[in-house]
Amino acid sequence: MAPLKTKGAVVAAISVSVAVLSYMLCKYKSKKKSFPLSKNKKTRNGLVYAVGNTPMIRINSLSEATGCEILGKCEFLNPGGSVKDRVAVKIIEEALESTQLSQGGVVTEGSAGSTAISLATVAPAYGCRCHVVIPDDVAIEKSQILEALGATVERVRPVSITHRDHYVNVARRRALEANELASKLRKVDQIDGDSGQLNGYRSDGERQGLVFSRYCNGGFFADQFENLANFRAHYEGTGPEIWEQTCGNLDAFVAAAGTGGTVAGVSRFLQEKNSNIKCFLIDPPGSGLFNKVTRGVMYTKEEAEGKRLKNPFDTITEGIGINRVTQNFMMAQLDGAFRGTDKEAVEMSRYLLKNDGLFLGSSSAMNCVGAVRVAQSIGPGHTIVTILCDSGMRHLSKFYNAEYLSQHGLTPTANGLEFLGIK
Ligand SMILES: Cc1ncc(COP(=O)(O)O)c(C=O)c1O
Repeated sequence: MAPLKTKGAVVAAISVSVAVLSYMLCKYKSKKKSFPLSKNKKTRNGLVYAVGNTPMIRINSLSEATGCEILGKCEFLNPGGSVKDRVAVKIIEEALESTQLSQGGVVTEGSAGSTAISLATVAPAYGCRCHVVIPDDVAIEKSQILEALGATVERVRPVSITHRDHYVNVARRRALEANELASKLRKVDQIDGDSGQLNGYRSDGERQGLVFSRYCNGGFFADQFENLANFRAHYEGTGPEIWEQTCGNLDAFVAAAGTGGTVAGVSRFLQEKNSNIKCFLIDPPGSGLFNKVTRGVMYTKEEAEGKRLKNPFDTITEGIGINRVTQNFMMAQLDGAFRGTDKEAVEMSRYLLKNDGLFLGSSSAMNCVGAVRVAQSIGPGHTIVTILCDSGMRHLSKFYNAEYLSQHGLTPTANGLEFLGIK
């Protein structure tokens, strides 16, 4: 009997140790994840928990053509359809935590589309609403989606960021207006509960230019360009996921920048993990970031924002390219930059569609141009990661419109990757 007892005790001790070890491992793992799964691993705890933890795929055609492993992080598979879901979740969570935003409040944003769509998608999950200001030259399907999601949309003329009516400045103003309205409504409630009048003034949406309704509980300007919650979404989410999915075996990362949040968060995280990982920018036409990274100066005096007469984004790609250095971009740790052309992005999108079945948006196509440029620069045998930001579905009226492309001399003609010098 004694040996049996001892055996039992040993088995019990081993079981306890295994349980303790798995508990600790689980805790450690879930601490590292910025978007933890719910207890039942087969279901996720609401929409917000379905954001992030996106698949990483090998882009077979590009890998075979370059001799590098070219991997794409499938951000287009987020519930709101883009990489910006992560940013929307982080911005709203931080704003709620700091009490700058309350339930029933409105999140305002000046966005060329994706961030706004993500904010409009996740805001209801936090009991909030969304008001979006966008330039009127952005593909029409983006504002249609926003309205369908229940956001209010203001389309404005594209002007320089130094102009008070630049879409970002209008969005900032709208948040202040929502706060003023909320405080007036609070006073009205205190003074005259039912009549809704303060000194004969009725504080309703009509008087506020119909932008916000009678029951607005304040506003918060998401400010994706300058709000470092954007950087943190990638530093705490995208970066660690890339590291885990490649088991730390990667040589380079490349992405284009709009706000700079993605390239900054991911590059900083990866370089802190392993300073040998090279991080690069791919920059579209009209953007000053290539010059900033390679020469330290953004533009000539004549090109500075505010001095240009027309919209500075001379590119078909949407959401990337900028002529100012944002707080988010300043966090990036980059080893170099490449320029990509619109023609290359269009050709790349059709090449990936034909060879890999990947139907990607313009910034993702540009990122893949960047991945090939990096492969050509560092040579075969390396692993290169890039971001597949959104799908082609949001780009039907321009990037995937044959007539639009022909009007701009961008009709795709390539059979393979000859447009990048690969036979
Ligand atoms: C579709 C799309 N791709 C890429 C980006 C660029 O990402 P980031 O703002 O993190 O630089 C954006 C930014 O708005 C975007 O909308």
